[in-house]
Amino acid sequence: MKVLGLDTSCDESCAAIYDSEAKRLLADIVHSHVVKMGNYGGIVPEIASREHLKALPLAVNQALRESKLTLDDIDCIAVTNRPGLIGALLVGVTYAKALALAANRPFHVINHIEAHLLSPMLAGQAPAFPWIALVVSGGHTELFHVESPTQFRWLGGTLDDAAGEAFDKVGKLLGMPYPAGPQIDKQTADVSDELRKRYKFPRAKLDGFNFSFSGLKTAVSLQVKRLGEKRDSEKLAVAASAQEAILDSLVDKTTKAAEALGVSQIVVTGGVACNSRLRKRMPTAYFPSPKHCSDNAAMVALAMALQRPKPAAWNTTAHASLELG
Ligand code: KG4
Ligand code: ZN
Repeated sequence: MKVLGLDTSCDESCAAIYDSEAKRLLADIVHSHVVKMGNYGGIVPEIASREHLKALPLAVNQALRESKLTLDDIDCIAVTNRPGLIGALLVGVTYAKALALAANRPFHVINHIEAHLLSPMLAGQAPAFPWIALVVSGGHTELFHVESPTQFRWLGGTLDDAAGEAFDKVGKLLGMPYPAGPQIDKQTADVSDELRKRYKFPRAKLDGFNFSFSGLKTAVSLQVKRLGEKRDSEKLAVAASAQEAILDSLVDKTTKAAEALGVSQIVVTGGVACNSRLRKRMPTAYFPSPKHCSDNAAMVALAMALQRPKPAAWNTTAHASLELG
């Protein structure tokens, strides 16, 4: 079957087509709003919704054009329905329902986190189940025990900010544009170990597999105030030390979860999984390609193909409901 997948959970309008027999992507389109959001210093949910209204139909048309298919060739439409920004999700779900109704095709909703968790399987070289999977992005920092494409057990998550949010806030305090995560990664790639340890930022000591990054944010903010005019000359040391504090928590909890559950395979995905230092610090973990770590619709189409491979399980009447699905 050929699945058209859509994702509008945050600030990327994504459309992809996955062929489940050939086990390959026929198109994989991401229209990012990141440049526009940079003007506001972060994501403005109302503006993201309006951008999806413009960009999602373009992404779908581009996906069909690149795969040389028409809507008639598509067997099923799958869309992210949660979690995410409510207005942004509504644009995607309503668009998908209308398209499915017009084309007389089944329509299914996919959980965005489950799609991230299954994204390693896009490359066809994913480790065998079970996995301990860390989903770490601007909106999420969650640990799961993944036993199959439909069996996920939540182990823990952030009690406040997500790790990506912490990267972005640290960068903002240092005068970097949004999103600061990739900048911090790039600018600190070659700094010395002394710089990475210069500032002792807190690592939250929590029971179980939970995370917390709000204390780090406050500590960086106080440190930047104390530095005053020296902020710019100390920028790299503050950024590198804060990055180390974030990564220490991520590596520590993920490794402990794998040990506690006796699972040898670790998977890391989400936007922060693009971080080169994190990849270096977890050499035995599996990271999807950077494109498939960040938000995309390829993982949504794949999740549909893996979770509902048989047409008998397809829903042909869901279009009528006004709910998120
Ligand atoms: O998954 P994603 O594209 O969108 C969602 O948040 O759902 O993740 C974006 C987040 C941002 O906070 C961004 O700063 C962070 O991922 N990020 C990074 C890197 N690339 C993206 N953080 C650290 N290092 C990176 N290389
Ligand atoms: Zn995401």
